[in-house]
Amino acid sequence: MTEALSAPRGTRDIVGEEAIAFAEIEEAATALFAHYGYSEIIAPIFESAELFTQSVGDDTDIVKKEMYVFEDRKARKLALRPEGTAGVVRAYIERSLGEGPGGVTRLWYNGPMFRYERPQAGRYRQFVQLGCELFGSSSPAADIEVIDIATRLLHRLGVAVEARLNHLGCRNCKRDYAAELAGYLKGHMDALCPDCRDRLARNPLRVLDCKVETCRRITASAPRIRHCDSCQGEFAAVKKGLDRIGVPYRSDPTLVRGLGYYTGTVFEMISSELGAQDAVLGGGRYDELVESMGGKPTPAVGFAVGVDRLAQLICMRQDKAWASSPVPYIFVIAPSSPHGSPRTLSDSQLEAIWFVHALRRIFEKKSRTEGAAPEWIAHEVSGRSLKAGLKLADKLRASFVAIIGEDEAANGTVLLRHMANGRQEQIAVRGIDEEELANKLDEWCR
Ligand code: HAM
Repeated sequence: MTEALSAPRGTRDIVGEEAIAFAEIEEAATALFAHYGYSEIIAPIFESAELFTQSVGDDTDIVKKEMYVFEDRKARKLALRPEGTAGVVRAYIERSLGEGPGGVTRLWYNGPMFRYERPQAGRYRQFVQLGCELFGSSSPAADIEVIDIATRLLHRLGVAVEARLNHLGCRNCKRDYAAELAGYLKGHMDALCPDCRDRLARNPLRVLDCKVETCRRITASAPRIRHCDSCQGEFAAVKKGLDRIGVPYRSDPTLVRGLGYYTGTVFEMISSELGAQDAVLGGGRYDELVESMGGKPTPAVGFAVGVDRLAQLICMRQDKAWASSPVPYIFVIAPSSPHGSPRTLSDSQLEAIWFVHALRRIFEKKSRTEGAAPEWIAHEVSGRSLKAGLKLADKLRASFVAIIGEDEAANGTVLLRHMANGRQEQIAVRGIDEEELANKLDEWCR
């Protein structure tokens, strides 16, 4: 295939067991967020480029090097969103979403994000983030709530991670620390990577986030932040709350995160099973962002999980039964007649269409009303002979086969066969309603 017709570099198709894992993540998150009172928000995938420059920060790698920026036909400068928080904050302000009862707004989202990064295992140019944002509370209880959700989500999906926690300090702590850190880093200027030399001039804290080995060695012995009394109290309260509900974490003073809007608590969850791209989830508090973007002063905290990386961990889980190929419960065959045209329907094929439709309605209703797991009602639609149809049903490990041949179509019956023990019986279906049919099947398939 020519390059032009292949998936663009850094993108991929999510299929098979990975697609099942994506669905499992969304299902678990939807249920969990409902328990915590979060409503879903579906924001645009592209926004004004300025939104990200202002919020994520024009000195961050994401904005400087990784944004997909383009002009539309009216020369508006737009960007594919590199992350979800900025758009949610924009919507929060624009739609006055903070005016609900209680003054606290809880939102969650799930969708594709785009970063022009160097692709490697676990790092893509289009990836999915699922995240939440809590607006309107500066209490450590809010930090604890979102960290608890993140932990519960990963636990529910059977994924083990390590949580790292830090507190970036208030404006004053940060200012003093930036000066102290800059002094230390200047002494190692020659050994820093070119990016970090630039970071040192613009925002020395960013150097702590560098992945280059030489920079890492330098930052490992860098001075640590000294929190003022108020920040110290806040950080202690978050940790106390997490201890009280048994959420595990490790304090990590080197954790700074790669986005510019954070203030106070920050956290990341990492997995040693992921290789170099080990961060599954990241988040923190951003108390100044809403106001800096033109809203009322509103404290906020949130996180986003990388769905691609989480799906990868789910696919590594031991219990593979969930991801095996679907198995038909009933496989319906109306064998093709050697004389029929493949473009028309014989009487038996028409009966099979009715029968399959009735079965699907019956089983769909069962799932809806009784919570029964959905069953695959398979229909042989490629015009196989009876022999070939049965062979396929066997290969797919169907539990039952329903055969509608010329005789069955003529006398209004279906031949049901239990594939494991070979028991078979012709059941009358002409003129019966769906409820009767459901009862007959219940009895027969038991
Ligand atoms: P982030 O740490 O940049 O935070 O991204 C969150 C997660 O998205 C990462 O932990 C990672 O799993 C996944 N991720 C990031 N880049 C890629 C990539 N190129 N390929 C695959 N997965 C990736 C944020 O974006 C913040 N908006 C989170 C947040 C919400 N903070 C407060 N509220």
